[in-house]
Amino acid sequence: MILTVTLNPSVDHTLFLTEWVLNDTNRATRVERDAGGKGVNISRVIHGLGGKTLATGFLGGGAGAYVKHTLEREGVPNQFVPIRDETRIDFSIELTDGKPPTCVNEPGPTVYDSEVETLVDLLKGLLPKARWLVLGGSHPPGTPTDIFRRIGRISRNAGIPFALDADGDVLKLGVEAGPTFLKPNAAEASRFLGRPLRSLEDCILGAREICDVVESQQRDEHVVTVVSRGALGAVMSSHGKTWIGESPRVEKNSTVGSGDSMVGAMLTLLDKGCSPPEAFQFGLAAGAATAAKMGGGLANLEDLEPLLDQVKIREA
Ligand SMILES: Nc1ncnc2c1ncn2[C@@H]1O[C@H](COP(=O)(O)OP(=O)(O)OP(=O)(O)O)[C@@H](O)[C@H]1O
Ligand SMILES: [Mg+2]
Repeated sequence: MILTVTLNPSVDHTLFLTEWVLNDTNRATRVERDAGGKGVNISRVIHGLGGKTLATGFLGGGAGAYVKHTLEREGVPNQFVPIRDETRIDFSIELTDGKPPTCVNEPGPTVYDSEVETLVDLLKGLLPKARWLVLGGSHPPGTPTDIFRRIGRISRNAGIPFALDADGDVLKLGVEAGPTFLKPNAAEASRFLGRPLRSLEDCILGAREICDVVESQQRDEHVVTVVSRGALGAVMSSHGKTWIGESPRVEKNSTVGSGDSMVGAMLTLLDKGCSPPEAFQFGLAAGAATAAKMGGGLANLEDLEPLLDQVKIREA
């Protein structure tokens, strides 16, 4: 079972407008609501691909109930710690002009120390049944900044490898706990390494360096690092080798969740004992399938299978 942890899930609320007038009342022509948050999405993808998963984290209030309801409607097993404050709502406004949406994200709820300890106890109880732990996204304000490092260490102490999909300080501190799988996009990897990763060559060197940094902390294990590059595909480094993956060409609809789909798909295959290149092929197809899907939907097996043959992978 792949255990995902989402500390700051969300309800993603998108309003579609024909025009947007500031300081006046606007009427939406369409509204979309969905559950969000990295671990939540990753669990949905794993479940959609037939893998075993359990989604955990914090949920509170009406928005939290909505996230739980969405997971249950899809049959995704979940066990969240209920919190006193309300799960956040992220708003997007999309016009019909084809430009990227305007987004406003709430910071997230206050999570009390006792709630953090309840989650830690829950994870300690669940880890013996898990084969991977996945830590992703941000953490709500007020939770300790080193919470990803703490949870990562708990996972490693239980002998369970963990995957990390985060940015900024959360990524840096999480790396100190020794993740086995990392999937920064090129911008996140640039911030981690402190230099721009623009070209393919930059990304190859970047993926190798991230593996070296992480492996130097844990000595006993090979790390898989994927640096994703949107429509340009991705680069994967593992076991001292590096692969370049080209994504299938698809008509882009909404790339929200492409990275999460890649992580969910790759971990599903790694969990089944597939090699990193086999998992990489699946991950590239899953990311592209989600980018092509209408309405912010996430890839399932039916969406990604026709794309598998179009994924091109070569060793660098
Ligand atoms: N427009 C696209 N066309 C084809 N494939 C795509 C496209 N966008 C994303 N992908 C696929 O999905 C993978 C992950 O996408 P991306 O690099 O955008 O991740 P991300 O920035 O982490 O996304 P997320 O918003 O989910 O965190 C890419 O490596 C690629 O395989
Ligand atoms: Mg991402």
